[in-house]
Amino acid sequence: MSEEIYLTGITTTGTPHIGNYVGAIRPGIEASKDLSTKHFYFLADYHSLAKNEDPDKITQSTLEIAASWLALGLDTEHAYFYRQSDIPEILELTWILHGMTAKGLMNRAHSYKAMVQANAESGTKDPDKGVMMALYSYPILMAADILMFKSTKVPVGRDQKQHVEMARDVAQRFTHHYGEVLVLPEAVIGEHTAVLKGLDGRKMSKSYNNTIPLFADEKRLRKLIMKIKTNSLEPGEPKDTNDSTLFDIYKAFAAPDEVAEIEKRYAEGIAWGEMKQVLFEYINDQIKPARDEYQRLIDDPATVEAELKKGAEKAREISIPYLAQIRDAIGIRRLG
Ligand code: TRP
Repeated sequence: MSEEIYLTGITTTGTPHIGNYVGAIRPGIEASKDLSTKHFYFLADYHSLAKNEDPDKITQSTLEIAASWLALGLDTEHAYFYRQSDIPEILELTWILHGMTAKGLMNRAHSYKAMVQANAESGTKDPDKGVMMALYSYPILMAADILMFKSTKVPVGRDQKQHVEMARDVAQRFTHHYGEVLVLPEAVIGEHTAVLKGLDGRKMSKSYNNTIPLFADEKRLRKLIMKIKTNSLEPGEPKDTNDSTLFDIYKAFAAPDEVAEIEKRYAEGIAWGEMKQVLFEYINDQIKPARDEYQRLIDDPATVEAELKKGAEKAREISIPYLAQIRDAIGIRRLG
C-alpha cells in the first residue's frame, strides 16, 4: 500500500483558542511525529475571503496561527507547513476543478445553505443576499487544497466532512473524464478528540465569542476561567462531572489518573471556585513554555515568514510538476 498523506487547512480568521488546540493543533502535531506518513498543514488564507474580514485581521490571524503551531513544536522538517496563497498552483487547480464541479453540488454545500436559510429566516426576499462567489465556490478551493497534494486522509471537524466528500465527488468526475490523475481523499473525523465547550457552555467557537485564547497571558487566562458557567451547587454538595464545562476542559488537558482524582473531588463536593483555580493552574503550567516561545515569535514576524516561505518552497516541489501533469491531462498543453 502506498504511503498515507494527511492534509488539513486552518482558515485564517481569529486567534487560536484552547478548543482549536485540543481539537486540531495538538492531535496534528502528535500525528506528524509518525515518520511513516506524510503531513501537510497549511493556513487557508484565501478561504478567509469568503467571510469578508478586515485585511489587517487576516494578516494578524495568519501570524498568530502560524506562531502557535511553531511554538508548540511542529516539526517543519518532516511536516509541510505553508500558506495557501504562497502556492499559486492551488488557485490554478481551483479553476480547473470548476470545470468538473456541478453547480447543483455547490447548491447543497452547508456553508452556502446556512446563508440562504438565514436570509429566509430574516424575511429577506433574495435568498442569495450577501452570498459572494467566494463563499459559494468555497468547497472547490478546498477540493484544490486537498487534491493538489494527493491527500488520502483529511482530518477535519464534523462540520467540514461534507466538503471533503465534495472534493472526492469532484475528483471522481475528473477521473471519469480525464483518467487516473487525481487521488481520491477521505475525511477523518476525530471520534476521540474533544470538542470543548466555551465560557457560556455552548461549543467553544469564535462565532459565539465564548473562547479562551490559547496564549492569553496569565492574568487574562485566570479571569476567563473564573467566568466559565457553572450551576449553583454550594461547596460540599456532590457535583456531576457529566454536565460540567470545567470538568470537560480539565479532562482535555490532564492525564487519566489526574482526571480520576478530580472525579473523586467532584463526588466530595469541591467548590466551583476551587475547581476553577485547579483548572487555571493546570492549563497555565502546561501552556507556559509554549506561551513564551509564542510571544517571541509574535514579536519577530520575519522568522515566522521565513518558516512559511521555506514550507512553500518544499510544497511547490510537489505542486509545480503535478499541476503540469494535470494541465497536460486536460489538454492545456504546449503546441510544439
Ligand atoms: N474549510 C476548513 C475549515 O473551515 C479549512 C480548510 C481549508 C481545509 N482547506 C482545507 C480543511 C483543506 C481540510 C482540508 O475548517
